[in-house]
Amino acid sequence: MYFWEWMLMVTYLTFTIRNTVMPLSAADGNVQRFDGLDCTDTPPEYCNVYAYSYQYDNRAVITASRNIDYLYNVRRLGEDATLSVYEGQINKDHLLTTISGTNYNETLPLAVKNTVKIYKVDTRISQVSLTNDPKRAGYGKVAVTGTGMKTVVHSFDYRQLSLEQDTSETFTADVFVNFNFNVFYFDVNGNTTLDIKVYQDGIVVLSETFTKDHKPRSSGYTAFGDKISISYQTYGRATKGFRVDFVCTSKDALQPTTGIAKTAFPNN
Ligand SMILES: *[C@@H]1O[C@H](CO)[C@@H](O)[C@H](O)[C@H]1NC(C)=O
Ligand SMILES: *[C@@H]1O[C@H](CO)[C@@H](O)[C@H](O)[C@H]1NC(C)=O
Repeated sequence: MYFWEWMLMVTYLTFTIRNTVMPLSAADGNVQRFDGLDCTDTPPEYCNVYAYSYQYDNRAVITASRNIDYLYNVRRLGEDATLSVYEGQINKDHLLTTISGTNYNETLPLAVKNTVKIYKVDTRISQVSLTNDPKRAGYGKVAVTGTGMKTVVHSFDYRQLSLEQDTSETFTADVFVNFNFNVFYFDVNGNTTLDIKVYQDGIVVLSETFTKDHKPRSSGYTAFGDKISISYQTYGRATKGFRVDFVCTSKDALQPTTGIAKTAFPNN
């Protein structure tokens, strides 16, 4: 192909993508345009995912890099609105999670991975703070307000074959909470391990190491403590990664037996 032919094609495709109302389902809505977001030269307090959806104009936001995006503060999101977070592609299979105008305090901070991250709101405007710095996002602290905390822990190239899936994350709480977790996806190649531990004041109260011979049960696991660590190791082999969903609540919490100085999760 000659260069001018290529240019013509790119121009045509750009025009087509920008102007085509894609025939997605009503739940997915239509995206007329994608805006790229790159906060490299933006002061951190001004880095926001600014997506909107109106009948006459709607825009989803894309970031592309090998960094992790951390969403951490909702500045604007209607009570009846939902921000959908996609990794890699904009379709149901690549939907990581949704953040609603009523539950965002329970679902943030959120780590969004994959090279391409897509943020789309179903109605009006959403403005959500984004950073690549986990400390700034307060990532790894279990929020103890509201009805608990829900999060998704997963590998960088979750669901794609990749050598870059090794992941170690730890979440701590200032009070004892009930950690309910469920291994939603676990790909194994050779001696891949997924190690999950729950601690109470530094003492391990639950320890599971999942391997090809010890697959996680689908009903999930629960333990009461103040820290959870999740580590996925592939020992240099390519896998499609893993995903663990966990919820922290006070419901069904076992009473700690002895010498527990901390207070239980206050929202019984
Ligand atoms: C989320 O938390 C912030 C800060 O505590 C509060 O101002 C806001 O009203 C909360 N939002 C919802 C939907 O509960
Ligand atoms: C896993 O397998 C790799 C090579 O196949 C080996 O080098 C490594 O020591 C093994 N690790 C464990 C924890 O078994």
